Amino acid sequence: MLKLSLWSFALFLGLCYSADHDMFKDCSRINFCTTLRSRSPLDKYTVNRTGFVLQSNGRADFTLEPNDGSTNLNLSIYSLTDNRFRIQVKEVNSSRYELNNVLDGPPPIVGMYGFVFEDERMSIPVGDNIITIYYSPFKMEFYATDVLQLVLDGTYLTFEDSLDQAFAFGVSFPQALQLYGIHEHADSLALQTTQVSGTDPYRLRNLDVSGYELNSPMALYGAVPVLYGHGPNATSGVFLHNAAEQWIEITNDEDTQAYLMVESGILDLFILLGPTPTEVVRQYVALTGTAHLPQLWTLGYHQSRWNYESQDDVKDVVANFTTYNFPLDVIWLDIEYTDAKKYFTWDSNMFSDPVEMQQNISATNKRLVTIIDPHIKAETGYSVYDGALEKDLFVKNADGSNFEGDCWPGLSSYIDFLNPEARNYYSSFYSYDNFPSTTPVLAGIWNDMNEPSVFDNSIEKTLPGDTLHYGGVVHRDIHNIYGLLHTMSTHQGLMARDNGTTRPFVLTRSHFAGTQRYSAIWTGDNTADWGYLSVSYSQCLDANLLGIVFCGADIGGFANDPDVELLQRWYQAGAWLPFYRAHSTSGSMRREPYLFDEEVQQVIRNALQLRYKHLPVWYTLFYEHTRNKDPIIRPLFYHYPQDTDVYRISDHLLVGRDILVRAVAEPGVESVQVYFPGGADEHWISVDNAEVYDGNGFVNISVTIDAIPVYYRRGSVIVRKETVRLSSDEMANDGYTLYVNLDADNKASGTVYLDDNTSFNYVDSKEYNYLRIDMEGSDVTLTKIDEDSNSSNFDFIIDQVVVNKIIKAPQNGKPGQYRQQMFKNDASRELLKNLKFKFDNPARIKLI
Ligand code: GLC
Repeated sequence: MLKLSLWSFALFLGLCYSADHDMFKDCSRINFCTTLRSRSPLDKYTVNRTGFVLQSNGRADFTLEPNDGSTNLNLSIYSLTDNRFRIQVKEVNSSRYELNNVLDGPPPIVGMYGFVFEDERMSIPVGDNIITIYYSPFKMEFYATDVLQLVLDGTYLTFEDSLDQAFAFGVSFPQALQLYGIHEHADSLALQTTQVSGTDPYRLRNLDVSGYELNSPMALYGAVPVLYGHGPNATSGVFLHNAAEQWIEITNDEDTQAYLMVESGILDLFILLGPTPTEVVRQYVALTGTAHLPQLWTLGYHQSRWNYESQDDVKDVVANFTTYNFPLDVIWLDIEYTDAKKYFTWDSNMFSDPVEMQQNISATNKRLVTIIDPHIKAETGYSVYDGALEKDLFVKNADGSNFEGDCWPGLSSYIDFLNPEARNYYSSFYSYDNFPSTTPVLAGIWNDMNEPSVFDNSIEKTLPGDTLHYGGVVHRDIHNIYGLLHTMSTHQGLMARDNGTTRPFVLTRSHFAGTQRYSAIWTGDNTADWGYLSVSYSQCLDANLLGIVFCGADIGGFANDPDVELLQRWYQAGAWLPFYRAHSTSGSMRREPYLFDEEVQQVIRNALQLRYKHLPVWYTLFYEHTRNKDPIIRPLFYHYPQDTDVYRISDHLLVGRDILVRAVAEPGVESVQVYFPGGADEHWISVDNAEVYDGNGFVNISVTIDAIPVYYRRGSVIVRKETVRLSSDEMANDGYTLYVNLDADNKASGTVYLDDNTSFNYVDSKEYNYLRIDMEGSDVTLTKIDEDSNSSNFDFIIDQVVVNKIIKAPQNGKPGQYRQQMFKNDASRELLKNLKFKFDNPARIKLI
């Protein structure tokens, strides 16, 4: 049971809080949170058992009657495909807002065919699952193959007329030891128990928190209201489909449960019965959709700063990357490129010839991304403003006038992205005609400040809750999707701009469940400090488990200046997050990699090159995500769910299934603890030396500044490109190298995906080559996975095969050894020469 008695002691300790806590409220300063947090078990509702109705659309309805004279509630149950249910609760005759725009289409319903009534309870069997509903006090239990997975605990359910529209409910996870999810917080991946004196619940409210603090339940820029409960025997989850502010109390261990306090909207809860981490993630992602495949260049390295001052500055930076032999795919422009922060314009002094600048960038096969924020400078004569004013597309005050607040340009109005016409209007400015001096080299857009940020500390730096949107919707009901709607419009604009031929690239700060359909994310304004390097793994692992796979953090830290050790470690660790961009604040020291001593340069160059060597791995994983919804990077528990020792590890990650990375986020260390998962039969092969470890837990591993610990899983085939050039475009026609990590039976397998790297033809006309690679002894077999795909333009050319074979097993904590053998595609090795995947399926090659 929730230990509510403790909550009353969980008071705000104002004395130890920094300035942020004055601006950003804790629970004790929010009426609905304080009130609901202090509720004792209420046992408020009883089921009206004569009122069960099975509707023709497969929905079951009944009524909950409260014992305190408040309004009756209607509860509806939908049974969905893949071990999922949807529960909706609202008052009879509710006028509450019901969320749109978040789900990726209507969730598929399966019928319910019968209720079993008993004295105290009734049950609904659906396939292998059973829902049991207790009448008084009301409670719902969800069983999967006779195992109790999840309880919607009526004890804590309360809808309160006196709290405007706030409501609360509890969920418990009987099989779980640890809760995960509810992105975004700067905290450990494993959620911490919050029922401790002085601790706030986790908050979900999208806010512009500059200089955010670590190990904190404070809200950040994004909100993804998904919780997973995980234990050795089962994983299950819930998704609260609601975009209002939420506070979430967490209890782990024997009594793993959460208590959710929500400001408004309806209780619309998806129940995900797993029972494995893979299944529960897929069950969730199927609801809000997958990212489309990104263009290949977006997986390369991005160089940003606030700000590159002028077109000459940009050209100089790009040229230096070439001179000093650092790969680079993208250069970014922050807000100063605009004319007085009027987005879709250029500062004509510093950027007098943007087209020439883009040509220059493109001449070295690189691209440009520019920032476009959602606030619109309130200035007559600025066409974006004038048009929105005329068409009445701004967010309004409660009295019907247009809301105005301060942001980068000074006084601004805010586009009402809830209005489809406003989304269309805003999206039209991305066209080459409407955004002057842009060319396809401006290949992506960065949407920032879209919580949205309003520079007024008295309103937590965002739109007031009573401002009004399209259809009279109050802002508090949709606050957390403002950024999602902004990126929806941008994505639409880029699709239209390029006639649907090119996969849009958008980066957003504010995000919600479903953001992945439109945009990548980054972790906002972090600081050049070791803790922020470490937490970037937690933050992006969490986002990956919640479907937002394209995630990264500002390399080097946004605020302050990193020392060179931190910078090098950040380049090394960041190379293993999906989005790889260096960025820093205005006034920070310049820190482009070529500015450092030769030794430092070489460490950073190695990190960048290691990233580029693995581009085929990243691209294949992104493709596989579009097929199977799996995260790109994964915490250890995802693949080793029964190993309780890994539940709280968040400075390690798995890239896909087969690459294990341990960030070095400690200064001055000569060794770090690396956890090798998987037991005695799993082996991990170092990419830097000839060592092999078995999966028996922590080992102290020596490190130098040259590299962080990275391992390949024995039994895998890792597909790489060995020659790193100055951008991903320049490597596009190079052949591949297979790193084959033979298992005890001399076998290994992997996959690789190839297509045109840019278009939607992989969806529209199945133009791609997706291959399974199997190695046995000296035979390599390539099997085309989708027989009907059109692979004729995408030959899989193998330049080299590197075979890693274990020659000495690890023993008593001491590493084993492997031997490396190379098979090169040169004149003497005819069978590999110009190998093309053009022949029978499967194709076989023998290594000689
Ligand atoms: C916000 C962003 C940051 C950007 C700055 C100026 O603070 O988070 O990345 O550089 O605004 O646009």
